[in-house]
Amino acid sequence: MGRSEDGRLLLLEAPLALFPGEVVEAKVIWKARHGEGRVTRWITRDPQRTQAACPVAATCGGCELWEAGSHATELKRQMAADLLRRQLGADTPWTWLPAPGSARRHRIQLHWDGAALGYFQRHSHVLVPVSTCPAAADPLSEAIPRLQEALAGRALPTRAGRWELSTGTPAQTVWATDERGRTWQLEPDGWHPSTQPIRHLLGTTTLLHEPGAFFQVSPPWAAEAFGGLLRSWDLKGETLYDLYGGVGLFSMLLGDRFKHRVLVESGEAAVAWARRNLESAGLPSECLVADVAAWVPEGLGVPGDVILLDPPRAGLESALCDRLATAGATSLVLVGCDGAAFCRDVKRLGAVWNLNQLAVLDLFPLTSHVECVALMTRRP
Ligand SMILES: C[S@@+](CC[C@H](N)C(=O)[O-])C[C@H]1O[C@@H](n2cnc3c(N)ncnc32)[C@H](O)[C@@H]1O
Repeated sequence: MGRSEDGRLLLLEAPLALFPGEVVEAKVIWKARHGEGRVTRWITRDPQRTQAACPVAATCGGCELWEAGSHATELKRQMAADLLRRQLGADTPWTWLPAPGSARRHRIQLHWDGAALGYFQRHSHVLVPVSTCPAAADPLSEAIPRLQEALAGRALPTRAGRWELSTGTPAQTVWATDERGRTWQLEPDGWHPSTQPIRHLLGTTTLLHEPGAFFQVSPPWAAEAFGGLLRSWDLKGETLYDLYGGVGLFSMLLGDRFKHRVLVESGEAAVAWARRNLESAGLPSECLVADVAAWVPEGLGVPGDVILLDPPRAGLESALCDRLATAGATSLVLVGCDGAAFCRDVKRLGAVWNLNQLAVLDLFPLTSHVECVALMTRRP
């Protein structure tokens, strides 16, 4: 967000994040009350900008904070503070959990155009060829030229399209999944068809899921951050309603802090893995394939129960917020990866649920994205 020379509000797009106070040139389309545009050139740069450790940082647009270097964490904390102040008020206390330098992506999405493999530039289908990705775990980054080689040599299906590279925890074996969900595992002599699940060893917790399915981008750091946070909030009780539960990450992290778990998730394969994960951990649970908004009944839970919601970026439907107002559970945890949608939902729930704890986790280092987590308790 910026201001034009004559003080009008501007919403600007740039491949790299703008630092407060920098002056740029931009191509702007003026709307009734503000302008929207793309940065074409930096006129003054913040002296804290550093050389990006990624060769395509300025064109790829996937990680906007490469040039922020060690200042990235503070810049991001300021962005989160600004959002929370505007949306929830200056007096709302919150805590900030910066990412450790070791956090890397365990999942990356590349595109093959029939000749080159790379990332799409942000909001476009312009391919930026890459042979390495320093934001990804080393085995993933090293697998990029191996995938390029196999595609160019027709050892893998060559149709243009998206490829996901993923790895487990610790990051060792690499899988490549095409748009049709077909998966290959990388071995020293090349890619081999695979039906093996990905395994994440997260502290004392083991989770399995199929390659190509949703899972946290930096699993070891996400497990450490969520696990530590929810334990510090002393989250425990009778039944945990793990809504939008995926393959069971939260149910597993909270383990025996609850006597029983009900996990609701729309993906059939994810629910099958959640069932297996929770069974293997000896955690009694019901895992259901359903649309959360359709499933949540009036009066969900009883005192002592906790409802945890981790919806996709769009957040909660307003009808679901209304139904949660009648819930019998004592506490509600809301997780959101889109700050604006998250704040909107906290406000929607606020008539009945009091915001007790709020934390912002840097689960997506090098990007401007954050994960927000709120603990809300029923107003008396
Ligand atoms: C942000 S992910 C969270 C997954 C899980 N909590 C985790 O951390 O691994 C959101 C999950 O909600 C699921 N989902 C999306 N829309 C849904 C809906 N309407 N009802 C139930 N699940 C849904 C997606 O398949 C995805 O697994």
